[in-house]
Amino acid sequence: MALPRQLRKRKITLAIILTIFVTFFFYLLKSLPEEKTPVSRHTKLSKETVADLLSIIILDFEDFDNALEKTTDNLQDVLGPVPIFIISDHVPYPPVRLEAKGSARILTLENELTRNYSAGCTARLFNTEFVLILPDASSLEGFHQIKSFISFLKFKRDTKAIAIPQINELVYCADFHVDLTRWTIAFEKDYLKKAVFCPLVKGSHGLLMRTQTLISLPTPFMRPFPFTFYVQAKVKSWKIRIMNSGRIGLLSKLYTDPHSKWKRKQREADSLKAFYKSVGLKQEILPSGISNFYGCEKHTPRCFGTVVKDMPEFLYRGRWTPPCCLRALRETAAHVFSVLEKCNVRYWLEGGTLLGAARLGDIIPWDYDVDIGIYKEDIAKCQPLLHASEDSEPFIDEKEFVWEKASEGDFLRIQYSETNHLHVDIYPFYQKDGIMTKNTWFLTHRQDVEFPETYLKPFTKINFTGIMVSAPNNVRKFLEFKFGEGVIENPRYPNLQKPLNR
Ligand SMILES: *[C@@H]1O[C@H](CO)[C@@H](O)[C@H](O)[C@H]1NC(C)=O
Ligand SMILES: *[C@@H]1O[C@H](CO)[C@@H](O)[C@H](O)[C@H]1NC(C)=O
Repeated sequence: MALPRQLRKRKITLAIILTIFVTFFFYLLKSLPEEKTPVSRHTKLSKETVADLLSIIILDFEDFDNALEKTTDNLQDVLGPVPIFIISDHVPYPPVRLEAKGSARILTLENELTRNYSAGCTARLFNTEFVLILPDASSLEGFHQIKSFISFLKFKRDTKAIAIPQINELVYCADFHVDLTRWTIAFEKDYLKKAVFCPLVKGSHGLLMRTQTLISLPTPFMRPFPFTFYVQAKVKSWKIRIMNSGRIGLLSKLYTDPHSKWKRKQREADSLKAFYKSVGLKQEILPSGISNFYGCEKHTPRCFGTVVKDMPEFLYRGRWTPPCCLRALRETAAHVFSVLEKCNVRYWLEGGTLLGAARLGDIIPWDYDVDIGIYKEDIAKCQPLLHASEDSEPFIDEKEFVWEKASEGDFLRIQYSETNHLHVDIYPFYQKDGIMTKNTWFLTHRQDVEFPETYLKPFTKINFTGIMVSAPNNVRKFLEFKFGEGVIENPRYPNLQKPLNR
């Protein structure tokens, strides 16, 4: 089919214009000055430019078994005078002797009374755009090994760091979650196979990133490294990529004899504890579902201070009751229930505790004590209660719980231990004209009011922390009578007007 003449003519003109444009752009591109970035343009990088571009950090090493001297020598041999920083939380002992002429130095993070503050600021020493953090005894073949990774970081801005496994190392990837409100870190069961981005790389590896990335972390140099890095990266939702080519070499195997192995493990456990403490993680849920708790033990003080105006310190800081405290409260409550049941004391869950039981079968996640009501006349039936209400001295039972009269009014308090003052409060009520009343009232607590005895005739059972305990009948009506309508469905923080959006 022949095209109309006019159209054919236009096509030819268009082709000519296009050719001119293409030729013009080709020459324009060629005449542009070469980009100055050494990495993308030059295959052979002079040793001076490596030192301008990259610093090496060694954080993960042990005093008692290390290859720091060999490692720094080797890195300087292949990379030239690249800055190498060995960062330690204390002065390494036995001494590490680095080559005097070399560019490696040891930085200690310890507070020294003789040092000024600005000199102690480690990050100010990193003058290169990139840092490579290597485990002790790592080796490189040359800069070419790192070069493509640096280009990658320059090109892929959303990749915050690159994990480069050590040769022959079985490296795998795991996922985990950090819940700061609940002070918890939870590790996933399944390892991610063939993951490109990895939340937690396990197995020995180096980490390459921009210096800016590293120093934007709240605490970049804490051990156990690189675990602490991954936790902080997770909170920032950073993407970390595993590379499986160009693996890092290994100069020698460390921690091979049983004693070194044991010491290494011990050090890691200690530093893990210190890290969790410093960032406020108190429960570690392992892939098996088993939890490790950090802080708030039977023989340590309660991990939050005196509660002022119903607003505990942790809530003020935007966090809920530390999980170790909740656990200790549950344990104390379970002990108290068992004693009350053994004595046949008529008891029931009170106030916020009953509310928690009705709402979720547990202590409300930001509550800090457990409240129980009893018939005052039943105190005489139960030795620990009798002790507590009559003696001026607290009564310590065989499981080290402390039973005592509360100093704030006419009620009893059972503390987790003499040191740890997490507690259960027991309020003695008595019946008067069909109404349950008591002698001490907290005027600021709306729920602290008299109520008809019919709620206790009969009692019901309610599931609280996995055990069935005694409660008023018609729990919903009882709670709404005390707190107001809709209280089960509408959680509120104490002493905050704003309802909770959860
Ligand atoms: C702090 O120490 C550094 C390094 O020792 C020194 O260069 C600097 O002048 C000192 N600064 C002050 C304010 O003393
Ligand atoms: C209480 O509730 C928990 C959680 O829903 C459940 O696992 C447990 O079996 C219950 N306990 C009893 C005694 O019903």
